[in-house]
Amino acid sequence: MPETIIRMSGVEKSFGDHQILRGMSFDVHRGQCLGLMGGSGSGKSVTLRHLIGLIRPDAGLVEVDGQDLTKISRRELAELRKRMGYVFQDGALINWLTVAENLALPLEENTNLDAAEIAAKVQEKLELVHVPDTGQKFPTELSGGMRRRVGLARALITDPEIILYDEPNAGLDPRTARSINHLMRELSDKLEVTSIVVEHRIDCLKTVADEVVFLFEGQARVRDTAASFFQPTDPELREFLGV
Ligand SMILES: Nc1ncnc2c1ncn2[C@@H]1O[C@H](COP(=O)(O)OP(=O)(O)OP(=O)(O)O)[C@@H](O)[C@H]1O
Ligand SMILES: [Mg+2]
Repeated sequence: MPETIIRMSGVEKSFGDHQILRGMSFDVHRGQCLGLMGGSGSGKSVTLRHLIGLIRPDAGLVEVDGQDLTKISRRELAELRKRMGYVFQDGALINWLTVAENLALPLEENTNLDAAEIAAKVQEKLELVHVPDTGQKFPTELSGGMRRRVGLARALITDPEIILYDEPNAGLDPRTARSINHLMRELSDKLEVTSIVVEHRIDCLKTVADEVVFLFEGQARVRDTAASFFQPTDPELREFLGV
């Protein structure tokens, strides 16, 4: 039996009188990459934010590595978060710090590495995402695509076991998107990283995801292998994909 590392079960979440999640349930096992697709405003980012404890569900279970996020202490949540990387939809870099300082921050806060070791790790991750010369630049000096790559490098900096990607291809040219997708695939194949990828681009999900879930009306409506998901029988998914 594969080991379940992420589990959502019956999660409900409203903002005001607007219910976004209506019994969201899915699980992800170790080393798996699960894609999430759904219309704008369907609750994809909200789902990811539950998994790092930024949002608490109104009802239901949110579990990461066997720990119920609604029951653990702040300290335990902080420990768990160290093992997780989050690639934010907008990059979410701190504009008054250089790229290198942005990347160093999680290492300064969470490890005992010295300055030279941190600098080496920062450079290693910048090279991994193909922006080796950006360390001394400020985020506002970068193009949108470069900022996204730096955002990815920052999510990878602590070598997390779990990575949540929120539209990793947005704003990237096709060639860069392909190289990022191959990198994501490598992380799950070689390093057994567990990941969830929110993405609208079908080629991305076909490359990186083992299975894909369709979010519809606040639930995981369809779940299928990446190969079959894009030839669906479900009428709502067919309508969504336009097939
Ligand atoms: N903190 C919040 N307070 C109030 N409403 C929120 C909050 N966060 C999200 N929402 C609402 O929840 C709904 C789902 O938002 P979410 O960001 O998850 O959508 P999404 O599926 O990621 O869409 P997109 O593809 O456009 O990124 C939206 O209607 C949004 O306005
Ligand atoms: Mg979103």
